Amino acid sequence: MRTIAIVNQKGGSGKTTTAVNLAAALAEAGKKVLLIDLDPQGSASLWYGFKDKGKALYNVLTEDDKFESAIEKTDINDLHIIPASVLLSGVEKALANEVASESILKNKLEALPVKPWDFVLIDCPPTLGILSLNALTMAKEVLVPVEAHVMALHGLVQLLRTINLVKQRLNPTLEISGILPCRVDYRTKHSQEVLDQLRARFEGKVCTSVIRENIRLAEAPLHLKPITSYDTHCNGAQDYRKLAKELIGPSETKPAEPIPAAPSPLDSV
Ligand SMILES: Nc1ncnc2c1ncn2[C@@H]1O[C@H](COP(=O)(O)OP(=O)(O)O)[C@@H](O)[C@H]1O
Ligand SMILES: [Mg+2]
Repeated sequence: MRTIAIVNQKGGSGKTTTAVNLAAALAEAGKKVLLIDLDPQGSASLWYGFKDKGKALYNVLTEDDKFESAIEKTDINDLHIIPASVLLSGVEKALANEVASESILKNKLEALPVKPWDFVLIDCPPTLGILSLNALTMAKEVLVPVEAHVMALHGLVQLLRTINLVKQRLNPTLEISGILPCRVDYRTKHSQEVLDQLRARFEGKVCTSVIRENIRLAEAPLHLKPITSYDTHCNGAQDYRKLAKELIGPSETKPAEPIPAAPSPLDSV
């Protein structure tokens, strides 16, 4: 099971769009996926049609409730969700006097007797408070969506430093699985320049896949469908499928070639 926190303290960088659509693309590729919405705004939950369902997750974080009590099924095969709600904005206060409150979700996930998922994706809020810390403590990997705009690069160094601190103090096996350029518009020179800068400054850390600017991605939440269902052929759907393949890795994306049963006609020559 791979647990990936989707993190960037900057709002509007593409976290929710990535969490929702990567989850669907992974499920489409035959993976079992759990999407955890840790943002009190609940945008990922709303996208899948869950409104104000976050009480269960709030209770998992602040009471004795078990992890499994918050899991819901989505309309997509093999995709489960733990929805959020505005209640989550009170978690910080509720946990103010708790010891090791950053490890609550990690411990509760570990306590699950059966973990049927190949991927657990966590959509984080645009703050590095207790909710994001729970995500970073629970995850083995971090995916950092970055808007392909020069202003978006400023906070990136700070974010990577914070991730490193969490790794040192809370979660030694945490790795950055990729910085993901989002909203890339190849028609503008600026977008290409930012891409080049990203690849030069964070060598080896930037995903090969990029997510292009695509209006269909902005429309899809209104239809309560991930992009792979809303418009299966659009650039956005293709880009998130590519990202899913990149994360799954080359060895698993293609089934092994069957061994030919009949002898080759050349054998008798
Ligand atoms: N590739 C894209 N093309 C077009 N619009 C996008 C794309 N990615 C994100 N958006 C839009 O940008 C806004 C912010 O994206 P979102 O995923 O909600 O960011 P975050 O979760 O980091 O705040 C949303 O309105 C979303 O529809
Ligand atoms: Mg968001």
